Amino acid sequence: MQRNFSTELITCPVAMGRFSERMRGQGKTIALVPTMGCLHEGHLSLVRAAKQKADVVVVSIFVNPLQFGENEDLAAYPRPFARDLQLCQELGVDVVFHPDARALYPGEVPTRVEGGPTAKVYCGQTRPIHFGGVLTAVSILFHVTKPQFAFFGEKDFQQLFLVRQMCRDLHFSVEICGMPIVREAGGLAMSSRNVYLSPDRRAIATVLYRAIGAAQQMVRNGERSAAKVLNEVHSLVQSAPEMALDYAELVDVNTLARVDQLLGPSRLLLAAFFGDSPRIRLIDNGAV
Ligand code: PAF
Repeated sequence: MQRNFSTELITCPVAMGRFSERMRGQGKTIALVPTMGCLHEGHLSLVRAAKQKADVVVVSIFVNPLQFGENEDLAAYPRPFARDLQLCQELGVDVVFHPDARALYPGEVPTRVEGGPTAKVYCGQTRPIHFGGVLTAVSILFHVTKPQFAFFGEKDFQQLFLVRQMCRDLHFSVEICGMPIVREAGGLAMSSRNVYLSPDRRAIATVLYRAIGAAQQMVRNGERSAAKVLNEVHSLVQSAPEMALDYAELVDVNTLARVDQLLGPSRLLLAAFFGDSPRIRLIDNGAV
């Protein structure tokens, strides 16, 4: 039976906090799905998982200015809010928390959560302020929405690692639930930024997925040298017109440190630029 659902829209952090306190007071559990909107099937899979786990599901939609560098796409970032709200409604989300930047950051925000050395490598090398901005926003969202569970996609594998590290280091009592990457039919990892790509370009961008598949096959065939696997990944991505690798790394899943030999659970992390104007940055990863 379809439930006639009404999603509550909250924009004020104080009202959000009161709502969560009321729910907790009634003995209900809360799951948060933090997003920047432009929801796609990847986000919706998080919402579905959150609904299985908790009594109350909160989806935050907040395009976080702190995680965008100066020449990045903060202004252009897609914001189809009415459509997002409708999707949340259809999935039976209890609350959409949609603060504006002034509500969440009333001042300059001199207090930041930085994430340490792991926030400065891989994606953090190209986007030096990115993870500090993410962790600061996520920690505020946790304080305001007071969830017992929070759901993140494995597509942002480094982000997921850093959020878990933050929760451990700063004693947040939130269980972080990482969910598998959801892919388009051709294999491209779902991302809000895919709206920047035409169908032709999406087809070209599947080279990242194919590179992950090639790496997995090499390891299945017994290859243990990270350098050899990465060589193959580089040549595959170079074969795609208009794509330029930002980085490709093989890392230990438990520490995110680079590995030379593929002897334990490892992950191939990739980022690539597509085109010149606009220059679109895509990320992907897979277990090897
Ligand atoms: O993954 C995202 O959409 C964002 O980085 C997040 C976690 C919502 C923080 O702004």
